[in-house]
Amino acid sequence: MKSFAPLVAVVSLVTGTPLMNAAEPSITSKSFGTTTNGKKVTLYTLSNSKGATATISNYGGIVTSLKIPDRNGNFSDIVLGFKTLSEYEAKSPYFGCLVGRYGNRIAAGKFTLDGKTYQLAINNKPNSLHGGLKGFDKVVWEATPLMTKQGPSLKLTYISKDGEEGYPGTLTVTATYTLTNKNELKLVYRAKTDKKTIINLTQHSYFNLAGQGTGDILDHLVTLKADRFTPVDKNLIPTGRIASVKGTPFDFRKPTTIGARINEKAEQLKIAKGYDHNWVAAKLSGQLGVVATVEDPKSGRVMEVLTTAPGFQFYTGNFLDGTLTGKGGKIYNFRNGFCIEPQHYPDSPNHKNFPTVVLKPGQTYKNTIIYRFSAK
Ligand code: GLA
Repeated sequence: MKSFAPLVAVVSLVTGTPLMNAAEPSITSKSFGTTTNGKKVTLYTLSNSKGATATISNYGGIVTSLKIPDRNGNFSDIVLGFKTLSEYEAKSPYFGCLVGRYGNRIAAGKFTLDGKTYQLAINNKPNSLHGGLKGFDKVVWEATPLMTKQGPSLKLTYISKDGEEGYPGTLTVTATYTLTNKNELKLVYRAKTDKKTIINLTQHSYFNLAGQGTGDILDHLVTLKADRFTPVDKNLIPTGRIASVKGTPFDFRKPTTIGARINEKAEQLKIAKGYDHNWVAAKLSGQLGVVATVEDPKSGRVMEVLTTAPGFQFYTGNFLDGTLTGKGGKIYNFRNGFCIEPQHYPDSPNHKNFPTVVLKPGQTYKNTIIYRFSAK
């Protein structure tokens, strides 16, 4: 195990008021093995001044573990995942990963830019999903650990070649993960291109605030700051309509458990086997603001989600079916985790009424996501 100790001393001067269980922030690293095509992969563990830890793999930018205290100060790992790299490579349903170039679905894997049509791989019939066959979740990123005033941090960099997975333009991407001393997992994404292209980066952790592998998430209380959502067709592609949540099971403007209405006979719930939709963030796009709050009544853990993105996918683990065994031998059954993926709307390149996902040379793509934890 490698420790990035010299940097730690800098931080101890700036961590502020000492807390109970206060610890020295640190970053350590160890091998996570080698990919099937021979690339070495490292796991980095960020520990903040409150004793919380986030472990990140530079394969796929995957958050493999996130240990957060409950109301009694007991730490549990609250994200689903695997023990080994080979399991992530072989069968991960995007556990904890960095999604790109285009998070979510593109209908028939097709989009047009300046009159030219691009065809992406159809990896989720009949659509392209989460960047294609070898998206950003399956590449090895260059990693730079660094201690910041906010907390321990890991900067990931990847240069995606022009034409990679069918997307135009060489894209230079950075994703900086910081486990702040306020118990926030903060993700800052930046990208630049040398040709006009499309982009939509996000984070795909499956959370269970009671602890990963402890069962379903139906009793979690959810509040979504969204008046509208984008209904989908039978292939989970938005119809283009931006619909009001009022009077539907998609209205989470007041705290409601995930399970309260998930089995209702609403057409949209039937199509997705539960919630797997994009909500339109009520805040003005581009500004950082809270879009969602989730509380687990058992442990008292609370997660707020902040973003600059114009929307977010709320997915309730409807494709988990008990066939995957995760860390600690836990079996992941139906709805044993939920994701909140702040992002642009699915299939935006094919919907003129959705905010643009086009990135031009000279511009910088930006998305910030904060998962902020507390307990009550
Ligand atoms: C996203 C999608 C879901 C599903 C998962 C991965 O959240 O919206 O439909 O594909 O990823 O299983």
